[in-house]
Amino acid sequence: MKRSIEDHAERFSAVAAEYDEQQDSEEYGACASLVIEAADPDSDETVLDLGTGTGAIALALAPEAGRVIGRDISEGMLAEAERKAEAGGHENVTFGEGRFREPNVDESVDVVVPNFEMHHLADEEKREAIEVIADLEPRRFVLGDVMLSAAIPEGEEQYSPEVDDPATVGVLVEALTDAGFTVSDATLVSEQYGVLVADR
Ligand SMILES: C[S@@+](CC[C@H](N)C(=O)[O-])C[C@H]1O[C@@H](n2cnc3c(N)ncnc32)[C@H](O)[C@@H]1O
Repeated sequence: MKRSIEDHAERFSAVAAEYDEQQDSEEYGACASLVIEAADPDSDETVLDLGTGTGAIALALAPEAGRVIGRDISEGMLAEAERKAEAGGHENVTFGEGRFREPNVDESVDVVVPNFEMHHLADEEKREAIEVIADLEPRRFVLGDVMLSAAIPEGEEQYSPEVDDPATVGVLVEALTDAGFTVSDATLVSEQYGVLVADR
């Protein structure tokens, strides 16, 4: 991780109020839509949105799922997510502190949907996080993120190399496979963004 968890939490809390309106890139929109579509929870299933931010994915899935759990490290982002859940009357969604390698979830979950945050972790930490998620025994893991399918020349990154540490698609597929998942779909939105769907 190029920055500590506390640094990332502070960084996101500082922009929480404006975060939603800043997510206007084509790549973010495409990944978020694909993650929501692929998650496809049944009405009695529990979804875990890890790195939920302001709850974009969690709240989109709330009408379909039985229960949605959102976890994040940023108090500011969580407060924004809670405000939106209350305004939308989503009573089956709960938000709270939790991190990739310590999700703070003491029940099994059916679908896990991290969108746009695993790239903050170093590759070895991503692998550990995927193993921790596998221990929650989800039937489906949908990962939307910055992921590289080609070498990106310096200066052409669509992410921030000083704080972000995206993996190659190959590294992510290998980590998911090693944790017992089968990658059933990989949609590359561009050379720098994509969505992986993994089942078991
Ligand atoms: C780019 S936002 C994405 C938010 C949301 N998933 C979305 O699609 O809009 C990244 C979020 O990941 C959170 N985050 C960063 N590192 C994390 C970690 N180790 N564990 C849990 N959340 C983390 C940040 O606080 C932030 O809210």
